[in-house]
Amino acid sequence: MSNHMWGGRFSAGPDEIMEEINASIGFDQRFFSQDIAASIAHANMLAKTGIISETDRDSIVSGLNGLIKDIESGNFEFSRALEDIHMNIEAQLSDNIGEAAGRLHTARSRNDQVATDFRLYVRDAIDMLVEQISSLQRALVARAEEEATTIMPGFTHLQSAQPVTLGHHLLAYVEMLSRDYHRFLDARTRLNVSPLGAAALAGTGFPIDRDMTAEELGFSRPAANSLDAVSDRDFVIETLNAASICAMHLSRFAEELVIWSSAQFGFVTLSDRFSTGSSIMPQKRNPDAAELIRAKIGRIFGAQVAMTMVMKGLPLTYSKDMQEDKEGAFDALDTLSLSLAAMTGMVKDMSFNRKAMHEAAGSGFSTATDLADWLVRELNMPFRQAHHVTGQLVALAENKGCALDGLTLKELKSIEPQISAKVFDVLSVEKSVASRTSYGGTAPANVHAQVQRWQKILAQ
Ligand code: ARG
Repeated sequence: MSNHMWGGRFSAGPDEIMEEINASIGFDQRFFSQDIAASIAHANMLAKTGIISETDRDSIVSGLNGLIKDIESGNFEFSRALEDIHMNIEAQLSDNIGEAAGRLHTARSRNDQVATDFRLYVRDAIDMLVEQISSLQRALVARAEEEATTIMPGFTHLQSAQPVTLGHHLLAYVEMLSRDYHRFLDARTRLNVSPLGAAALAGTGFPIDRDMTAEELGFSRPAANSLDAVSDRDFVIETLNAASICAMHLSRFAEELVIWSSAQFGFVTLSDRFSTGSSIMPQKRNPDAAELIRAKIGRIFGAQVAMTMVMKGLPLTYSKDMQEDKEGAFDALDTLSLSLAAMTGMVKDMSFNRKAMHEAAGSGFSTATDLADWLVRELNMPFRQAHHVTGQLVALAENKGCALDGLTLKELKSIEPQISAKVFDVLSVEKSVASRTSYGGTAPANVHAQVQRWQKILAQ
C-alpha cells in the first residue's frame, strides 16, 4: 500500500529497508507533546484568521487533547509506515475526528513543523538542565561553607603548589557551572524564534498570523526568513556545545574525585550510595559514578561533532539529512542530565578527610611562595632574589628531610643572615591561606563572602 499521507502519485509502497532508513517515529515520538502543542497553536490561528471554521478548530483541538491522553496512557499505536510523529498524530486524528483533521495541515509543512517541535523540545531540555545546574551549585556552595577553613594543597601540574582552602576549590566549580548556566540561557534566547508558518520553505499564500502562533508557543518572535527557518539547526549545535562544555567541567571534577578518593590521596570518601565494590577484591571501593561522569563528555561532544558534520555542506533548505538531528541530541541531553544528578548526589554525600588534606597541604614546601613574599616585604629584597634565596632554603629542607618550618633559625640564617624568627609566622599553611585576601583569593574570609554572594544569587 502506498503512504496515505503523501501516496497520491505512488502506485507501490516502500521497500522494507526504505521504510527502516526513512522512519523517525522510533525516536521522534519523544516530542509528541511539543508536536501537539504546535498543532493546537496552528489550528487556533487558522480559525482566528478565518482559514478554517471554528467548528473544525474545536474538533481538531479536542481531538488533539484526546491524543495526548492516549499517548500518555500507552493507548496509541505508533506506526512505522507513517514515518514520523507528525504523520502518526495527523493520521490518528483523522481516524478519530474525520474530515476536519485534513484541514490542520493547511498553510504548514512537516518542514516548519519539525523545526518548531524540536525547538520546543530543546527549549524544555534547557529549562530542565539549568535547574539541575543550579541544584549542583547549591550543593557545592553548602559544602564550601562547611569547608571554608579546611586546608588542602592547591595544585599546578598536579604538583603541590600553594595551600588553598577546600571551600575555595569547590567554589571554583560553582563559577564554572555559572558560565554553563548562562551559556544555556544564551543559546535559549537565540533558539526561541518560531519557524511555524514558514511552511515547506517559501512561506504561504494563506493569510496566516505568525505572531499569533509564535506568542502562543512562547517564542519571542517568528523567524524572519522562511528559508532559514526550515533549514536552521544552529540551535541544536549551540545547545550541544553548551552541554559539551558543561560535561567537560563535570569531567574535570569527576577526575579530581577519582584522584582524591584513591588510597594514596585519601582526601575524600565517597558514600556507599555512590560507590561500588569489586567482585574479586573485597577491599575495593570504586568511584564508578565519578569515572562514568568523567567519560560521558565523549558521547556528548560526539553528538555536537556529528550534528555539525550533518549540517556541513547542506544546501538550503530542508534535506532529510536533518532528521539526523534528533537521536544524538536526545542522548546527549539525557546523558548530561543524568551526570548532573549523579554529581549532585555525590557532592551532597561525600565526606572530606580534613586531616589528610591538611597534612598534604604542608608537604611539598607549599609555603615557599609565602617565604619569598616575606623576604620581599620584610627585607625589601627584589622578588627575583627572594625567589633564589627561597630555592636554596627549600634545597636545605629537602636535604634535611623536613618541611620549611622544620628548619631552625640558625639554618635559615645560614642562607640569609637577615632572616628573623618572625618568618615562622608565614611558614604555616594556616597563615599562608589566611593571608591571601586579595579579591578572588583563597582566604577563609573570602570564601565566606563568596558563599554569601552565591547563596543570594542561587536563592532566586
Ligand atoms: N521526520 C522528519 C524529520 O525529522 C520530518 C520532516 C520531514 N519533511 C519532509 N519533507 N520529508 O526531519
